[in-house]
Amino acid sequence: MSVDVQALAARLVTETKRRRTFAIISHPDAGKTTLTEKLLLYSGMIRTAGMVAGRKSDKAAASDWMGMEQERGISITSSAMQFVFKDVVINILDTPGHQDFSEDTYRTLTAADSVIMVIDAAKGVEPQTRKLFDACRLRKIPVFTLVNKMDQPCRDPIDLMAEVEDVLGIQASALDWPVGRGREFQGIVDRRSGEMHLYTRSAAGGSAKPEVTTELLADATPSDRLDEATLTSVRDELELLEAAGNPFSLDAFRAGAVTPVFFGSALTNFGIELLFDAFIELAPSPSARPAHISEDEEITIDPTDSMFSAYVFKIQANMDPRHRDCLAFLRINSGRFEKDMTIRHHRLNKKIRLSRPHTLMADDRGTVDEAYPGDILGVINPGLFAIGDTISSGGGGDFGFGQLPQFQPEHFARVRPDDTGKRKGMDKGVSQLATEGAIQVLREWNDKGAFPLLAAVGRLQFEVLQYRLEDEYGAKTSLEILPFACSAWLRGEVQSFRKPTSARLVRDQFERPMVLFTSRWEKSYAREQNPDHELVDYA
Ligand code: G4P
Repeated sequence: MSVDVQALAARLVTETKRRRTFAIISHPDAGKTTLTEKLLLYSGMIRTAGMVAGRKSDKAAASDWMGMEQERGISITSSAMQFVFKDVVINILDTPGHQDFSEDTYRTLTAADSVIMVIDAAKGVEPQTRKLFDACRLRKIPVFTLVNKMDQPCRDPIDLMAEVEDVLGIQASALDWPVGRGREFQGIVDRRSGEMHLYTRSAAGGSAKPEVTTELLADATPSDRLDEATLTSVRDELELLEAAGNPFSLDAFRAGAVTPVFFGSALTNFGIELLFDAFIELAPSPSARPAHISEDEEITIDPTDSMFSAYVFKIQANMDPRHRDCLAFLRINSGRFEKDMTIRHHRLNKKIRLSRPHTLMADDRGTVDEAYPGDILGVINPGLFAIGDTISSGGGGDFGFGQLPQFQPEHFARVRPDDTGKRKGMDKGVSQLATEGAIQVLREWNDKGAFPLLAAVGRLQFEVLQYRLEDEYGAKTSLEILPFACSAWLRGEVQSFRKPTSARLVRDQFERPMVLFTSRWEKSYAREQNPDHELVDYA
């Protein structure tokens, strides 16, 4: 190997090791945005965290940037942010917490190497957390748990740990423990070092780091700060955990079998730096990824392989109203990316020069000159990329990372332009948004000329669609919700399928037959009636 090649290979190893690519998942309102903001604050990316009271009016968190997100205070699309925290390159994939965005969220999770799950200490494991967690379990992604809002009236931490175990079916191991709760929440004991950190809110409140005093719990004595009862109860609880709690093992965590649990308050910053430090220490850097070379043959591709490879996990149009374009988001799985690099698009078997890739810190687009495994590239997409596409610098054998599941839609509608003159704009917008994967466009099986049906995993997708059709394509539309409640892809001979009368046979955008049902009962009935066919929930 020449010196240059050797130096480059060494650089690839170092850069891969110092990357952490992850997503924060939570039920809406548990504190994901606040935690993201604090990570930006602690890394020096922002000087003061926007006081939350102002956030929903004028000061949006950096990751909430679409007009509608700000109006509603929910995060609709996934953005990617990159920054350096304590010499580690952080890539955060922002997954929307709203229940209607599950498909997009599932795909985004395929690009994450680990996940921080935020739970509200008063509410415990909520439905959306459970759904998102299931998606993590499918891929055995290591999950950190933050029990947030300890500064408010909350449930007993031991109960919360038990709930995580029962509801999510994973072992929970507390790596730290709260000192006091609610209004008396004062600090955190780091169980691994035995140190107790007591915090005082700074004058700037949660927008700056709190003052902290640290001493060994074993040496602590009651003081003006900490009364005897609180000290005794922390010691008792920790003794109980020592005897009856789950031990933490890095291997079990990396295999997705145990979740380390942290307590804190993202709003006041208590305990948050301890979580970030543990995250840097324990979260995995990018590792080998499976790729298919044929339908039933798989290889693994190591991140430090000299071949550059990446796949598209998300497509998004018009993030920035000043640039009416469409971005494909790629996650790098191996090798080093360089600006102006020529790569091979595997599906199209075509060489392409990647000239304008961006890393994304919300809408503040920076152009990248180089990028490494775990990094997310936003590439201007002139209709070349579809979700699941693989690209690489490898000249030879074919392989693909893109086995991204597509989930059965449960909501169906027709949209019509209010002004027929806007039909063209609407059609363009609909097909663009379908490429992004947010909605699916279906056609009647036997009537190709009929107006298309739209299908989505969640109903809010339709509202987003209407909002974006008007905002970005100038087409005001009306929506007719259709009476179907679930669907399935049909496998087997279409002619001999015995379709219940109120069900409808359609084709999806890949010409696959699909059946829409008015109820779950009807779907099970169709299954019984058609033992030689398969009705599958995801394709
Ligand atoms: P999300 O992204 O998960 O949806 O949650 P987000 O961070 O926006 O937080 C939701 C609300 O919870 C915010 O209040 C936020 O200030 C508050 N919050 C987050 N972390 C903590 C915490 O550790 N302690 C306390 N006490 N509150 C916390 P908000 O913007 O005022 O919204 P709202 O209360 O009016 O809904």
